[in-house]
Amino acid sequence: MRKILVTGGAGYIGSHTCVELLNSGHEVVIFDNFCNSSPVAIERITEITKKPVTHVYGNILDQQAIEETLTKYQCDTVIHFAGLKSVGESTQNPLSYYENNVAGTVKLLQAMAKCNVKNLVFSSSATVYGEPQFLPLTEDHPLSTTNPYGSSKLIIENILRDLYASDESWSITILRYFNPVGAHSSGRIGEDPRGTPNNLMPYVAQVAVGKLEKLTVFGNDYETKDGTGVRDYIHVTDLALGHLRSIEQIGASQCLEINLGTGVGYSVLEIVEAFKAASNKDIPYQFASRRAGDVASCFAAPKLAKDILGWEAKLGIEQMCQDHWNWQYSNPKGYSLN
Ligand code: NAD
Ligand code: WQD
Repeated sequence: MRKILVTGGAGYIGSHTCVELLNSGHEVVIFDNFCNSSPVAIERITEITKKPVTHVYGNILDQQAIEETLTKYQCDTVIHFAGLKSVGESTQNPLSYYENNVAGTVKLLQAMAKCNVKNLVFSSSATVYGEPQFLPLTEDHPLSTTNPYGSSKLIIENILRDLYASDESWSITILRYFNPVGAHSSGRIGEDPRGTPNNLMPYVAQVAVGKLEKLTVFGNDYETKDGTGVRDYIHVTDLALGHLRSIEQIGASQCLEINLGTGVGYSVLEIVEAFKAASNKDIPYQFASRRAGDVASCFAAPKLAKDILGWEAKLGIEQMCQDHWNWQYSNPKGYSLN
């Protein structure tokens, strides 16, 4: 049993991970400033798990607040989700991404070092692979980025590798997520994007529920099965279980990079069809030109996660769409009550 500080634990992936950690008997302290989430998510975590969740309202840039929290709750491990994640916004406002993601992580690491808490699981992203030079993407694929968000993740990865090289008493697991989608099977927690969604599945879900008129498919001239972009969508509950396995594996001196994906790629049009089937709703769409910075195809080699963590994704595209729809349909306004 571990006592885990979960930064960003009220967010989309963090809330699902807290549920799986609590269900497996771990203690959780959420550290979040709700800049992209709602306190209602924390109430729902308690509702699902029937376990108490401690929450500290705070910013990861506040090193002293992190130190006080680690000490007060005697945390032995940190899962670090807190960060900004919009690619488009990062190109408009790069400094807030470098401040929040990079400087915030440095403050967190300094607090951890001071409190002698040296077990860390970090949320990285497949975005650090840049334009794929080969597929599926193995962890040793060269790293590069095309936008400030991706650069912030790659800088943090490099900081973590440097930190470990300087002090091998750290145990660091860098998880590179592919495209998280879906929601908890209860329909009580899920992704609650502010404003119009940037990502495909939440956009499709809002078309299905009638909030948005139609989907714009960015590009139908890629060299893929039907000309639309191909991605490795992973159910957020599988992703959460990947964190649980990482926590249970962590301990020895290590600095690992591990993909969390399914290894299977679906096109935009395949997602539209799967979501239509799950929701029984029409999903009108129109084709438009490619979105700047998008790659044709991106999917994981998931073998290392299986070898090291004994983890593999179990839930298929039907379940991803079904659970995403269930969440969207029963919470059309997300967590907001009006
Ligand atoms: P999210 O925005 O739902 O969750 C992030 C949480 O961190 C939010 O609750 C937010 O309020 C909190 N937060 C942000 N800055 C903070 C700060 N300075 N101090 C305290 N709390 C802060 O995002 P998510 O989808 O759950 O993503 C979690 C992590 O996984 C992020 O680091 C993201 O970059 C990474 N990631 C996400 C995806 C994805 O597609 N969702 C893919 C790869 C990696
Ligand atoms: C998927 C496919 C689009 C919206 C992003 C980040 C990545 C990671 C996950 C955090 C692509 C197409 C999309 C729409 C469309 N996040 N699409 N119409 O771009 O693979 O990854 O989220 O780390 O860093 O870049 O995900 O869901 O935006 O797009 O046609 O309205 O859907 O072109 O082919 P992406 P996505």
